[in-house]
Amino acid sequence: MLFIKLISCLLFTSIVTAQQDQIENDVNPHYAKLLNYSMLFYEAQRSGKLPENNRIPWRSDSSLTDGQDNNISLTEGYYDAGNYLKFTVPLSYTLTILSWGGIEWIESYKRANLMTDLHDTIKWGTDWIIKAHPEPNVLFVQVGDGKVDNMYWGPDTGIPLPRPSFMINNSFPGTDAAALASAALSSASYLFRNQFNDSDYADILLSHAYDLLIFAETAKPWRAYSLSVPAAIDYYNTNTFQSQLIYGNMWLYKATENITYLERANAHYETFNTTLVYGVMDWSDPTGAMLILGATLDSGKYQARAMSYLDRILDTTQNSSICKYTDGGLFYCKGYSTSNSVMPPLNMGFLVAIMKKAFPNLLNGSYTSFIQRQIDYILGANKMFSPYVCGIHKNSPHNPHHAGASGGTNLKKINTEPKHMAQVLYGAIVGGPDDQDNFYDIRNDYLQTEVAIDYNAPFQSLMAYQISIQANDPPYVTITEDRPILISEDDNFEGWKIAVIVLSIVFAILAIGFFTYRRKQNKKKNENNMFEKIEVAGERSG
Ligand SMILES: *[C@@H]1O[C@H](CO)[C@@H](O)[C@H](O)[C@H]1NC(C)=O
Ligand SMILES: *[C@@H]1O[C@H](CO)[C@@H](O)[C@H](O)[C@H]1NC(C)=O
Ligand SMILES: *[C@@H]1O[C@H](CO)[C@@H](O)[C@H](O)[C@H]1NC(C)=O
Ligand SMILES: *[C@@H]1O[C@H](CO)[C@@H](O)[C@H](O)[C@H]1NC(C)=O
Ligand SMILES: *[C@@H]1O[C@H](CO)[C@@H](O)[C@H](O)[C@H]1NC(C)=O
Ligand SMILES: *[C@@H]1O[C@H](CO)[C@@H](O)[C@H](O)[C@H]1NC(C)=O
Ligand SMILES: *[C@@H]1O[C@H](CO)[C@@H](O)[C@H](O)[C@H]1NC(C)=O
Ligand SMILES: *[C@@H]1O[C@H](CO)[C@@H](O)[C@H](O)[C@H]1NC(C)=O
Repeated sequence: MLFIKLISCLLFTSIVTAQQDQIENDVNPHYAKLLNYSMLFYEAQRSGKLPENNRIPWRSDSSLTDGQDNNISLTEGYYDAGNYLKFTVPLSYTLTILSWGGIEWIESYKRANLMTDLHDTIKWGTDWIIKAHPEPNVLFVQVGDGKVDNMYWGPDTGIPLPRPSFMINNSFPGTDAAALASAALSSASYLFRNQFNDSDYADILLSHAYDLLIFAETAKPWRAYSLSVPAAIDYYNTNTFQSQLIYGNMWLYKATENITYLERANAHYETFNTTLVYGVMDWSDPTGAMLILGATLDSGKYQARAMSYLDRILDTTQNSSICKYTDGGLFYCKGYSTSNSVMPPLNMGFLVAIMKKAFPNLLNGSYTSFIQRQIDYILGANKMFSPYVCGIHKNSPHNPHHAGASGGTNLKKINTEPKHMAQVLYGAIVGGPDDQDNFYDIRNDYLQTEVAIDYNAPFQSLMAYQISIQANDPPYVTITEDRPILISEDDNFEGWKIAVIVLSIVFAILAIGFFTYRRKQNKKKNENNMFEKIEVAGERSG
């Protein structure tokens, strides 16, 4: 009897311990997997010496000498996209949105047993921003030269040199970059202090966030960093600094609860409100994010403005609306959606979800159904039957624009060598379909198949939101149809092209034959005409 009790007690204990290591029962396993995979994608973007627990077997230690040209170490951090450049501005946006999602939906990460993953994902980025900020008024904003890097297509073992590093400083300011990096570190500081109980690291983050904001405020003239670092212009040019300055102050207020920073944010808002572009929020302009964050910090001042911002962007019925829906239902915005069309719905969906959590009674069902419909679209409820996430379904994109995962080494033959990508880039969000809901899945079609660290940030946070609201299974779970095969002008050399060429040759032969026959006929006619002409000429002259 005692023996049985002992056994069952042991069994019970081991079951409990086992469960602690696993996803909780009531967590939707699909969203937990998407959350997990998103962080696998970030792991695949890691630069520098990889840690012992690296789970991406095809990645190597790389770019170990980054920063050497400026006598500092800028190794590690994240590669931005399918290439090997590193940029501080999109990284800052990424870390802020990931941290914010962690702050709001930490329970989802806990219940999906992904706390360590979130911790490591964010810290790999924030550690690098700390490195990139070696002095109070110096911030490195880019590593690698786009012209050199974009000529290379191959694995991380052959990344071309030189990899110059670019900075902003007192003489060459970059208000936007410094304020966004500050926001990233403040938001991460809040997360590490309150959710990971790591006040030591939170303090380190905060001291850099503070210095970066002072740098943004005091280095004059205030201006976009691309004016100081022209190398970034073609890649991550924000063209602005006002919304970033407000946003940086708001996040520092959130991280410190020191009202000085909120007051300064408010003062900036009063100064800048008429110059702000109230467009779709993205890495380049956090105006929308600033209004929603502001509403959670100072509802009296920002709540109504945040609501009218959301309403104006989400209302597709006005002639002046910049956003419409595609026939298939994708939220599609003029000037934003030609490339990476999944970003406007993800970014706006993220903001709506934050606002909904802060003010549950303010937002009616039309807002939550906006989030739901857009997530469903991106997860398979579309004409292509495709989730725009790599590695989760047979219809997932098979050709993300990613040099490392492709296994290819020939820039001129990106699409065909190798025919099938060497690696699956699990969890990566691709750019997405066009305004006809068509997706071609072609590697060099970066408008559709580009992947980037910023794409996954609002997606990942929304997956944590989905877990929190116990959303229904994602649509791809029940999709059995294959993705329709589309013919595109950029397509590889395929059957239909051969048919066109064969037909053209046949046509050409027929045409040549016909013209030869005509020429013979004409020649006879001409000979006759010639006589006629001579006769006519004779008549005239005569
Ligand atoms: C996340 O995915 C990886 C790779 O499939 C797997 O090894 C790991 O167990 C997953 N983590 C969780 C918490 O499910
Ligand atoms: C880096 O250090 C070396 C050796 O001290 C020095 O010659 C060089 O000028 C330094 N470069 C920069 C960019 O500071
Ligand atoms: C300040 O930044 C500019 C622009 O990146 C750079 O050209 C210059 O060398 C930097 N100044 C110093 C003292 O490092
Ligand atoms: C942090 O501390 C709180 C309060 O003691 C606790 O509930 C929570 O589980 C801790 N979080 C972590 C990640 O240890
Ligand atoms: C708040 O920040 C201001 C400006 O940095 C500083 O002067 C002040 O001492 C801070 N207040 C507190 C309570 O820490
Ligand atoms: C902008 O700020 C000014 C000054 O406080 C205020 O009068 C105006 O209403 C604000 N405009 C908007 C659109 O918020
Ligand atoms: C919207 O545009 C259509 C066609 O140009 C026009 O007929 C209609 O009056 C416009 N509506 C509004 C509200 O401006
Ligand atoms: C929800 O609120 C919006 C904006 O206030 C309004 O336009 C819309 O009609 C409402 N929808 C429903 C279903 O109540």
